[in-house]
Amino acid sequence: MTETLNQTDNDRSESVTRPGKVRLSIRDVEAFYGQIQALRGVSLDVHEGEIVTLLGSNGAGKSTTLKTISGLVRARRGDVHLEGESIATLAAHEIARRGVVHVPEGRRILRGLTVKENLELGAFTVKDNALRRQRLEEVYELFPILHERRHQDGSLLSGGQQQMLAMGRALMHGPSVMLLDEPSMGLAPKLVTDIMRIIKRLNEAGTTILLVEQNARLALRLAHYAYVIENGEIRMQGEAARLREDESIVKAYLGVGE
Ligand SMILES: Nc1ncnc2c1ncn2[C@@H]1O[C@H](COP(=O)(O)OP(=O)(O)OP(=O)(O)O)[C@@H](O)[C@H]1O
Ligand SMILES: [Mg+2]
Repeated sequence: MTETLNQTDNDRSESVTRPGKVRLSIRDVEAFYGQIQALRGVSLDVHEGEIVTLLGSNGAGKSTTLKTISGLVRARRGDVHLEGESIATLAAHEIARRGVVHVPEGRRILRGLTVKENLELGAFTVKDNALRRQRLEEVYELFPILHERRHQDGSLLSGGQQQMLAMGRALMHGPSVMLLDEPSMGLAPKLVTDIMRIIKRLNEAGTTILLVEQNARLALRLAHYAYVIENGEIRMQGEAARLREDESIVKAYLGVGE
């Protein structure tokens, strides 16, 4: 990693005006798994209405960053703010109740529960029955296959369908911010396109999105703003369109694409 490139990109990012106010902000976060330091002072912002992507290779710290936001991992240092208020010490369910919902890597579909039950479980933060029913209808409309399979065990769905179920379950909360961890992983190209279209649609309907991806080209097409993380540190940031144009950056730092 060259200092020069970092410098260049910091300079670039300063000239960018991002829309909306800051919804989510991570400042100087350090996180550990036992002795292993996974995040070394990560700072990033997600503005209202944006799709922000966090790119990086295996083990870079992408999932850990999402986990420190949703409360699954505690930051040892630094802070996480939602609408200017610290959420760094709140329990995960309380963070979800405030509208920040995490769709983790690997989908985590519960075996022994039907598709419908998996979805209803997603709505544990919603007390109003009519609202839950309405959300369920919305999810079925977005993912008709889930309606078709609603009485089937969720774990019997295909990988792509499980990804839809994981997203559907998150949508049952009525999130204002979605944290998506590699939603395209392991999916056939057609399904990747479908999932990306749905992410765009959710964003256009008002959901703010932080999208973790290894597939840089794909994510940069969808996102407004991008961060690149390497070895637990943010190495680069800028408007997605600008990073996308710079093939050398995409190749050197991400080396992946379709
Ligand atoms: N539960 C854990 N226990 C110990 N170390 C962990 C654990 N989870 C992650 N790590 C380590 O923390 C670092 C960051 O991992 P993280 O899962 O955040 O990476 P990532 O960018 O999401 O990678 P990938 O693209 O492979 O999902 C890695 O070095 C990883 O080995
Ligand atoms: Mg990960």
